[in-house]
Amino acid sequence: MIMYLNGVYVPDTEAKISVLDRGFIFGDGLYEVWRAIEGRFFEPARHQARFENGLRALKISQPDDTKAAQIRAIADRLFAENSLQAGEATLYLQVTRGVASRTHHFPAQGTKPTVMMMARVFTPSEARCRTGGSAITVPDIRWHRSNIKSVQLLPNVLANEQAHQADALEALFVRDGLLTEGTHSNLFGVIDGVLRTHPANDFVLPGITREVVLEVAESIGVPRAEKAIGIDELARVDELFVCGTTMDVTPIIRVDGAPVAGGSPGPITNALYEGLLARLYSRQEVAKT
Ligand code: PDD
Repeated sequence: MIMYLNGVYVPDTEAKISVLDRGFIFGDGLYEVWRAIEGRFFEPARHQARFENGLRALKISQPDDTKAAQIRAIADRLFAENSLQAGEATLYLQVTRGVASRTHHFPAQGTKPTVMMMARVFTPSEARCRTGGSAITVPDIRWHRSNIKSVQLLPNVLANEQAHQADALEALFVRDGLLTEGTHSNLFGVIDGVLRTHPANDFVLPGITREVVLEVAESIGVPRAEKAIGIDELARVDELFVCGTTMDVTPIIRVDGAPVAGGSPGPITNALYEGLLARLYSRQEVAKT
């Protein structure tokens, strides 16, 4: 695979960073994941805005090659170099605070952030979105700034591995009795006909798919509330699903071994999935930046 690292295009086997990179030493960095369909990004402006918000939150000054136009140009080259212009792909961007001798405080002004981008083939799992799968719940032991797409993902990694071991699709985090989100997805449920999801505050990532799902719900007249689902409400949830760039809308039909309602994907979930597909694959909506 040809990737982009600090201004050059190199095979992944030759892409090297210093062991003193603050991403390696402290996990001091940020990432973003775009979905591309035949080379066109889905909701590029929203991904760009979230990424730039993250840079501001971490006080990393924005490298020129991470401006929207440059990312677009680098992605075009990566898609071409890796034969990804047809079909679907993801673009992964990671920026760290750069290479410096190890101090907890920020390094000297002018330390150049490390910038890496890679494109990979992506195969959406339509079958999984039609049939759904199970989830487990785990305590949300993450920090209080889960709205930042930091590369520090250990709680997510450990929870997802636990789900994997249990043959579950996703682990759902629970904080103070409320379901926050999945390890790499946002969570939605339907209770008493109302579509519910955790508010986009510091405890969840403001997912781009989450926003699109809320817009689709509005367009088809589904009542919605940005109000977290309590763990004690799970027994009366009619539908549950997770969503994200790599999950689309995936029904959750069992939680911790217990079926969700009838144990099969519900009608609102299915309608929202169809609406997301329409947005994903309409050329207009994914127009190039
Ligand atoms: N993850 N919540 C978390 C914790 C996530 O990591 C993600 C996405 C989402 C969904 O956000 P979006 O709809 O913008 O993709 C929610 C990416 C895909 C990843 O870590 O690979």
